[in-house]
Amino acid sequence: MSDRPIGVFDSGLGGLTVLKEITKILPNENVVYFGDTARVPYGPRSKETVMKYTFQAINFLMSKNVKAIVIACNTATARCLKEANEKYNIPIIGVIEAGARTAAYSTKNKIVGVIGTEGTVRSKAYNTEIGKLDKDIKIIDRACNLFVPIVEEGWSNSEIATLTAKKYLQDLIDQGIDSLVLGCTHYPLLKRTIGEVVGEEIKLVNPAKETAKDLKKILEDENLVRLAENNKPYYEYYVSDIPERFANIAAEFLKREIQGVKNVEIQK
Ligand code: SIN
Repeated sequence: MSDRPIGVFDSGLGGLTVLKEITKILPNENVVYFGDTARVPYGPRSKETVMKYTFQAINFLMSKNVKAIVIACNTATARCLKEANEKYNIPIIGVIEAGARTAAYSTKNKIVGVIGTEGTVRSKAYNTEIGKLDKDIKIIDRACNLFVPIVEEGWSNSEIATLTAKKYLQDLIDQGIDSLVLGCTHYPLLKRTIGEVVGEEIKLVNPAKETAKDLKKILEDENLVRLAENNKPYYEYYVSDIPERFANIAAEFLKREIQGVKNVEIQK
């Protein structure tokens, strides 16, 4: 067992969707969250830049003595999960393998939609992982670049979000997808809007749930779980810009008060 915290990293506030699932199934764990709000979005950036930012974030979390790290950002997972695991000696997991697994189990007609950032879609990471599980699954992918700024702006349930979703998703609906992978941490925050646009027949796949289960299994296998009889868990939040904004959106999403979000410089 270990009281050391779990590190959760995202390019911004979208990683809260993963944090929420982690706290549901691992309620005793201490957590340190870092959101790179000064440099979000990562989606349109080059692999080299995403890797540099991600390693800076991991170094920061390592300085907090974390026992495992979840890279909640799909773009960072797609671009450098493998390299991160080669470089650091604690368990580091991403969200794509878990999302791919969920999609492969969810689809009945074997036509799966994958939406994500430019970086994630271009990396074909979901296509590769889904293909490993079932090579007969047809994947229709689409970069939805405007979704991240819409979420970061706090407009997830607005008319703008609905119109944008219609524009991006109509083509995928027309091509007969029965499952849609929300391949960006921000997209589960748009779940209501996206769900209304695609309709009930299309199953929305949120990789966060399965990622949290993967984390639980790793902690159990490595004997790193924090025991329930210890003190209440702590949650520390760090961002690289405008902590107040993060605190407000996080409180609304997690349905609890978020205090003491700290601003940090991580360019090392
Ligand atoms: C982004 O930083 O562009 C979005 C986060 C993600 O890819 O999950």
